[in-house]
Amino acid sequence: MDRPRVIINVAQSLNGMIAGPGGRRVAISSAHDRERVLEIRSKVDAVIVGANTVVNDNPRLNLQDNASNHNSGPMRVVLDGSLKIPDNSHILDGTSRTVVFTWNLHRELKGADLIRMSKDHLTVDEILGRLWSMGIRNVLVEGGKQVIHEFIDAGAVDEFHIFVGNILIEGGGMILFDPPEDISGVARDIRIMQGGLLISLDPHSLMIAWKKKAKAI
Ligand SMILES: NC(=O)c1ccc[n+]([C@@H]2O[C@H](COP(=O)([O-])OP(=O)(O)OC[C@H]3O[C@@H](n4cnc5c(N)ncnc54)[C@H](OP(=O)(O)O)[C@@H]3O)[C@@H](O)[C@H]2O)c1
Repeated sequence: MDRPRVIINVAQSLNGMIAGPGGRRVAISSAHDRERVLEIRSKVDAVIVGANTVVNDNPRLNLQDNASNHNSGPMRVVLDGSLKIPDNSHILDGTSRTVVFTWNLHRELKGADLIRMSKDHLTVDEILGRLWSMGIRNVLVEGGKQVIHEFIDAGAVDEFHIFVGNILIEGGGMILFDPPEDISGVARDIRIMQGGLLISLDPHSLMIAWKKKAKAI
């Protein structure tokens, strides 16, 4: 089945955390890394995040990550089964189209187009199929952990970039890959950047490591 090309991008600390304790947002990316991400955003048709990322981080997901930018960026897509993102979320600001995939039939959301599907149809395959039918040919998945894991589970990864920022997040936090999900050996390219390292994973090796993990659990 046709689906858009999928790029996953995430930033983690030296100790593997993508968020602080309780999902608190932590600035991990350097200025150069943010520019790199904005460059990818400017080239894709849609950016995808999970509901918790919107609730915790309140991102704009536009082309400058600030309020003054009114250039329409890519379509913003939120996976939000229960429809819990707040009405005043930045992604509902109308600067570019926002689409929310949900099973909730009872709430409306000003500033977004809701795509309602039954719970068992809200799979990565069906979501990507729906986006494809809307003319979306490439997407950037920006988190969080649950959504990234769903895309790997579905085998829907064409590029995977991890920026490892030169910081430690202490006091607990959210680890992207827990030790049982060992992905050692799947890096295809490692580049030194201002403020950290950019690791690009080989999607094929990642899938093999991921399936091995699933069998071992
Ligand atoms: N460092 C980074 O690069 C980076 C980037 C982004 C986010 N983050 C961090 O990641 C944290 C959030 O990660 P997370 O794992 O808690 O949550 P998440 O992946 O952002 O969102 C998970 C939520 O999305 C909804 N969802 C997921 N898959 C869905 C599907 N197929 N259909 C419909 N809804 C779906 C679910 O809502 P329902 O339960 O309501 O169904 C679920 O609760 C944040 O604290 C943020 O700071 C870090």
